[in-house]
Amino acid sequence: MKRIGMLTSGGDCQALNAAMRGLVKTLANQTSDLEIFGFLEGYRGLIYGDYRMLTSDDFAGILTQGGTILGSSRVPFKTIKDPDEKGLDKIESMKLHYKKLKLDCLVVLGGNGSHKTANLLRQEGLNIVTLPKTIDNDLWGTDMTFGFQTAVEIATTAIDHIHTTAASHGRVFIVEVMGHKVGWLTLNAGIAGGADIILVPEIPYDVKNVVDAIEQRRKNGKKFTILAVAEGAISKEDSKLSKKELKEKKKVNPYPSVSYEVADQIQKATGAEMRVTVPGHTQRGGSPCPYDRVLASRLGSEAAALILQGEYGFMVGIQNREIVKVPIEEVAGKLKVVSPDASIVKEAKMLGICFGD
Ligand code: F6P
Repeated sequence: MKRIGMLTSGGDCQALNAAMRGLVKTLANQTSDLEIFGFLEGYRGLIYGDYRMLTSDDFAGILTQGGTILGSSRVPFKTIKDPDEKGLDKIESMKLHYKKLKLDCLVVLGGNGSHKTANLLRQEGLNIVTLPKTIDNDLWGTDMTFGFQTAVEIATTAIDHIHTTAASHGRVFIVEVMGHKVGWLTLNAGIAGGADIILVPEIPYDVKNVVDAIEQRRKNGKKFTILAVAEGAISKEDSKLSKKELKEKKKVNPYPSVSYEVADQIQKATGAEMRVTVPGHTQRGGSPCPYDRVLASRLGSEAAALILQGEYGFMVGIQNREIVKVPIEEVAGKLKVVSPDASIVKEAKMLGICFGD
């Protein structure tokens, strides 16, 4: 008998359902002696004992379905050791529910913050296996997270759609792309969508360089310019500030996000007619693309294989096209960022894309 708990934690993404389906299908193909407990809304379900017993039927027909059948929530790691408003010890409570249900293993589908909590639970003696989900692709230990490729497609489509209208009106457009503190999504969607300027958090920009690139395009007869700007993009000036100083500065910053600030600066310097488009959470929604369906199915299936062998404490990821197991303690707390020296950045620059650096 295998008793498996499962939860989806943090911001949702495409192919969460595909990954769970891959896991359960593989387990069910190997053993009929199986009980699956789905905790609802991420770690919250584990803390408060909110779960559903699931059967194979629950996983039928969900390969293509976006979101997560279990629901998700953000339970911040930085307050995980603090008691809740009623004084409940969250970690003890999670351990209690795991033990009460006599689980053999807890499967966590999560991103960065969720891996920190998963690692803590592992240190507390629980058997944990994790799967890397996030549209940001910022998890250490895996070349790719599921959700990422679908989000790249959505952000690229947004840039594609902006292209025609930008060209008609001769405007300068900013498409703001998600990605939290990293630029993978913006970089890939920017290249795929033919953006002229790409701003990512890992390469702080000087707005003068951005303005110069726009002026140069104008001189070359290009009436419009498209910028793909990461939501976490940062100016050279701001990148020199301490965390505290930056926080103080943000408090009095009148702009809703970095794109509006850059748009204002460009407008003042060039007189260009500016527009900002923020696809926002559309990047996390809808059906997973085929790549993500395949990746999530493979990862889910290999996670099941680990569980059947009684191997715990690993994230199942992909490196050089092979599925690998990476110790959770190596993943937790580490960001996979875009290196300014990465060949993809070099190639983008050779294509003539300006990074504002
Ligand atoms: O981590 C995924 C992500 O979509 C980030 O790209 C973004 O910064 C964040 O989540 C948005 O979070 P929320 O859905 O809580 O607003």
